Amino acid sequence: MKKIEAVIRHEKLNQVKAALEAIDISGMTVQEVRGRGEQKGLEFINRAGKYRVDLLPKMLVTIVVPDEKADAIVDALIQGARTGEIGDGKIFISQVERCIRIRTGEEGDEAL
Ligand SMILES: Nc1ncnc2c1ncn2[C@@H]1O[C@H](COP(=O)(O)OP(=O)(O)OP(=O)(O)O)[C@@H](O)[C@H]1O
Ligand SMILES: [Mg+2]
Repeated sequence: MKKIEAVIRHEKLNQVKAALEAIDISGMTVQEVRGRGEQKGLEFINRAGKYRVDLLPKMLVTIVVPDEKADAIVDALIQGARTGEIGDGKIFISQVERCIRIRTGEEGDEAL
């Protein structure tokens, strides 16, 4: 099993969910997070001068899936989340050792 964690723009969450539903992915965890990438946040300029917000609000979408579905999910995430502008986000993929459905005790792919 693979865990796919995608940091995306808030306003892209609905499009990402639609892209995932289109490939039949239902289970996910969504969290509001703050983060920064290469640009270390954003610099604003107003009458009082320049100031920097170094941690920007983002959405973190976590999906655990059988190995063979991981590539299709990455494609769907990119399709749903991409604007082409700085700050579109990032996808992290890692190996998951165990998953258990609490209600039934099922394990592994069956429990997803
Ligand atoms: N190396 C990283 N480790 C953990 N989280 C990261 C990392 N890089 C980015 N993120 C998360 O992803 C969010 C969006 O990152 P962002 O899209 O700005 O990445 P970037 O590398 O700066 O690319 P871009 O140049 O397109 O902006 C960040 O706010 C942060 O939450
Ligand atoms: Mg960035």
